[in-house]
Amino acid sequence: MSELDEIREKVDIVELISRYVALKPSGKGYKGRCPFHPDDTPSFHVSPEKKLWHCFGCGAGGDAIGFLMRIERLSFREALERLAAELGVELKRSGEREKLLKINAAAERFFQDSLHSPGGKPARDYLLSRGMGPEVWERYGLGYAPPSGTSLLSALSRWGISNLEKLGLIVKGERGYRDRFVDRVIFPIRDELGRTVAFAGRSLSGAEPKYLNSPNTPLFEKGTLLYGLDIAKEAIKSSGRAVLVEGYTDVISLQQAGILEAVCSMGTALTESQARRLSRYAREVVLAYDADAAGETSTLRGIGILLDAGLEVRVAPLPEGEDPDSLVRERGIGALHAAIAGAVDFQEFLLSIIPVRFDLSSLKGKGDALELVRSLWEHVKNPLLRREWVQKLSLLLRLPEEEVWKVLGGRISWKETADEEEPFGAEEVVLKFLLSGKLPEEKLVRLAPEDFSVEYRPIVKLWFERCVDGKAGPEPHVLAAELEPELQARLSRILLWDVNFSDEERALEEAWRKFHVLPKLEQRIESLREELTRAEKRGEREVLEKLQREYVELCRSRARVLKGEYEKQG
Ligand code: UTP
Ligand code: MN
Repeated sequence: MSELDEIREKVDIVELISRYVALKPSGKGYKGRCPFHPDDTPSFHVSPEKKLWHCFGCGAGGDAIGFLMRIERLSFREALERLAAELGVELKRSGEREKLLKINAAAERFFQDSLHSPGGKPARDYLLSRGMGPEVWERYGLGYAPPSGTSLLSALSRWGISNLEKLGLIVKGERGYRDRFVDRVIFPIRDELGRTVAFAGRSLSGAEPKYLNSPNTPLFEKGTLLYGLDIAKEAIKSSGRAVLVEGYTDVISLQQAGILEAVCSMGTALTESQARRLSRYAREVVLAYDADAAGETSTLRGIGILLDAGLEVRVAPLPEGEDPDSLVRERGIGALHAAIAGAVDFQEFLLSIIPVRFDLSSLKGKGDALELVRSLWEHVKNPLLRREWVQKLSLLLRLPEEEVWKVLGGRISWKETADEEEPFGAEEVVLKFLLSGKLPEEKLVRLAPEDFSVEYRPIVKLWFERCVDGKAGPEPHVLAAELEPELQARLSRILLWDVNFSDEERALEEAWRKFHVLPKLEQRIESLREELTRAEKRGEREVLEKLQREYVELCRSRARVLKGEYEKQG
């Protein structure tokens, strides 16, 4: 991890960002127009001191690596490698990576040899029965993991047990190490550059799971890779379109049918990072997921993620129960091409499933339909598109347009949604003092991560964990480094919030009162109320009187606090 720290220390965040954004000095930092949204006021702030950036327009934010990932659409690793090269930091891991890649190549050869060996006959027959012949084996490097359970282990043992385990090729069981893949057809998973970074094995015998994948390893991160992209990349670049499917065999079938732009995610739902990766090459994505209930749900989820990555989205209608691979096999290449060519705008797709899913003669059905649309609404930024949706929905649901607007959130234009991030409240003030190490100890000891709302809780939790002696908090960029992108953005928002309290102490007291003292009082009052009810039911006179006195006292305190005259509780 130390090379990572070194990069974070060395990088000049202002210099890096000024390559893309015109920055002007402002206060302790710099300001400019945000490169991530149409920005007509300089809402984009950079703090060299905290080594963070944040846009108060669209809410994006983070550290230098996060900025480079976003603006150049790189993976974490790629951004890191680029900065390392620029800063002259040697990534010690690259030697290690080379070795692991070599071992994977050796494993791939081992699986291929075993597919071609006499023992590989069942696998060859299986593949042939699925219409995958020798030229497909060759192109996709297909192989076979023998049934013995230790064949790979003995064949590759000279590479070292710990390396094989690191790559997920073998697993430790009760009786020692064994092969992970046993009696399965092997699909090598290649990165964009065509290097084999992982494997998927399809069971031949019906053993569960149907597909077994390599675990995450130093070479392989499920959530960032797209299967087939090594072959699809050039085609996607030239057509501007990618076709996203669910399964490995779907990718192969499409690419074999001449639709080279096919890719799929790794047996997990599509991630933001995969969508960003696609957006490096594609302008538009055609979703061709399985035509079943699960596929429809994934499609709806996928649409939102792809839209957020700035991609246009269409959906290919497949006949019920089919996936692209079965479609080719049952109805031929023509049917597949027709389905892809017949892809409809995602709005149209949504409008088409509504009457099937919901009973639109009932109010409940209409409400549910609007709920479904609402789940995608925030991903649609274009005001004209939004208006068009409302009109179409109003016709389909037989509801007045105003009604539809209201349910969908009423926000018409992009500006209204994004330009006004939630204002800063008492919670944010307290958080700002905490994160900048300015919260007095007597308050600090009263604070717990649970006091904060869920969106900030992980940040505060980490802050406390990284605290030395329960006092000196971690440096902002150190904290940021350990947070997910979304949390990084929340952190940078608080830290780069450029506020000058005329009287810091007073501002903090005021915020503390609202954020901490009052809620705690309210909680006590609430629980007392419950105790009172219980005591009343049981007819416990004495208890009741005692509780009532306490209750009145608390209510008085609350009134005082509300008026601002609370005494700092000792
Ligand atoms: P499917 O079950 O739709 O795959 O799962 P498929 O390609 O149609 O399977 P067959 O071989 O034609 O019967 C889609 C994808 O989900 C992941 C795999 O990536 C698969 O390609 N998956 C599925 C798993 O990772 N594990 C499983 O057990 C099943
Ligand atoms: Mn399928």
